[in-house]
Amino acid sequence: MSKALEGIKIIDFTHVQAGPACTQLLAWFGADVIKVERPGSGDVTRSQLRDIPDADALYFIMLNSNKRSITLNTKTPEGKEVLEKLIRESDVMVENFGPGALDRMGFTWEHIMELNPKMILASVKGFSEGHHYEDLKVYENVAQCAGGAASTSGWWDGPPTVSGAALGDSNTGMHLAIGILTALRARDKDGKGQKVAVSMQDSVLNLCRVKLRDQQRLDRIGYLEEYPQYPHGEFSDVVPRGGNAGGGGQPGWVLKCKGWETDPNAYIYFTIQGHAWAPICDAIGKPEWKNDPDYMTAEARQPHIKEIFATIEAWLGDKTKYEAVNILRKFDIPCSPVLSMKEIAADASLRESGTIVEVEHKQRGKYLTVGSPIKFSDMDVEVTGSPLLGEHTDEILTELGYDNEKIASMHKAGAV
Ligand code: COA
Repeated sequence: MSKALEGIKIIDFTHVQAGPACTQLLAWFGADVIKVERPGSGDVTRSQLRDIPDADALYFIMLNSNKRSITLNTKTPEGKEVLEKLIRESDVMVENFGPGALDRMGFTWEHIMELNPKMILASVKGFSEGHHYEDLKVYENVAQCAGGAASTSGWWDGPPTVSGAALGDSNTGMHLAIGILTALRARDKDGKGQKVAVSMQDSVLNLCRVKLRDQQRLDRIGYLEEYPQYPHGEFSDVVPRGGNAGGGGQPGWVLKCKGWETDPNAYIYFTIQGHAWAPICDAIGKPEWKNDPDYMTAEARQPHIKEIFATIEAWLGDKTKYEAVNILRKFDIPCSPVLSMKEIAADASLRESGTIVEVEHKQRGKYLTVGSPIKFSDMDVEVTGSPLLGEHTDEILTELGYDNEKIASMHKAGAV
């Protein structure tokens, strides 16, 4: 089966997570992604958080599948020449170096345009161009703090809290992938390349837009009725941390199930969506609440919300999270067990859909990774192992027209 992005050649000048997550996605969909890495060391994640001595770390292999790897010291004249050749032949170059690093290497936008006016240069930076923090280097949690996620996550009496989800890194990579595909579409029409820039702060903020909504509601009316602070607590003039309350306006909470005393994940998330109120009352054995004016509407329920959750929790006391969800699903009530990574890794449905896949790696043998979260009716997405450092150096140099003698001399000079 042919892949949608076959024929698109991408120079993957990325490292750590944000850039590699983007290019891995494009590689899954068929692009020829050539990872350019520094000779000797490569992407820092190859050796970060290693669980097997001397083998590429899971961090690297879970973000760099389906790619080829060439080592290139782009600060040497020969390395620069190879990169120039690659730029002439490629469609896209993706980079997430620190601010100004590509320019310092001699690959300014003007120079790239001279080499290939059809090139799409896609960059991730911590902050957008012209931002007063544009000079800063940025990692995941820094971005979560700068993008509004940390100030609005966690408990109201605790510090700002970052999420376990890679809102700054992989999320930014996904935004960049959308930008690249859009620029490719534009190039189909006008034949011209362009720069695509995504900042980590902006990508986090894009996922926090409901919190900016809440800031404006707070400014206008002084309270937020779906937050735990309402109606009994205090509001200041900034959006507070709401614990596990639902961000979309439906009151929800994480509730204890049987076994919570020993199992840190024996919980379900329970949402009291307006339309589900009557079925909830039936499911938890409180049919009298259905027509009680103190409980009938969302507004009437809000002052009793803690008592309602306590009642549901009492009902959950003798049920495991799976038993509870199996009952609640029959009543069409939005809910889910809180799943641990161990449970997710073993989930048969996720294996079947290709969301969790087992992949073979040359050094490590089999490992689990997250496959494509995007499914197509007309394209299979196969995840293959990540390349070893420089595994395809000679192959790619040969494709660029270098002969064996020249390749050997470049190795000797440390340029590749
Ligand atoms: N050959 C020669 N030099 C290379 C090279 C290669 N193949 N690959 C990288 N380098 C050089 C760069 O040119 C740069 O040199 P310079 O500083 O002398 O100009 C140097 O390596 C360091 O690059 P840099 O990206 O600044 O790495 P860092 O380890 O200091 O910082 C980050 C890492 C992630 C903080 C930084 O890259 C960054 O802020 N990136 C943008 C935001 C981002 O993507 N964050 C990470 C999300 S997972």
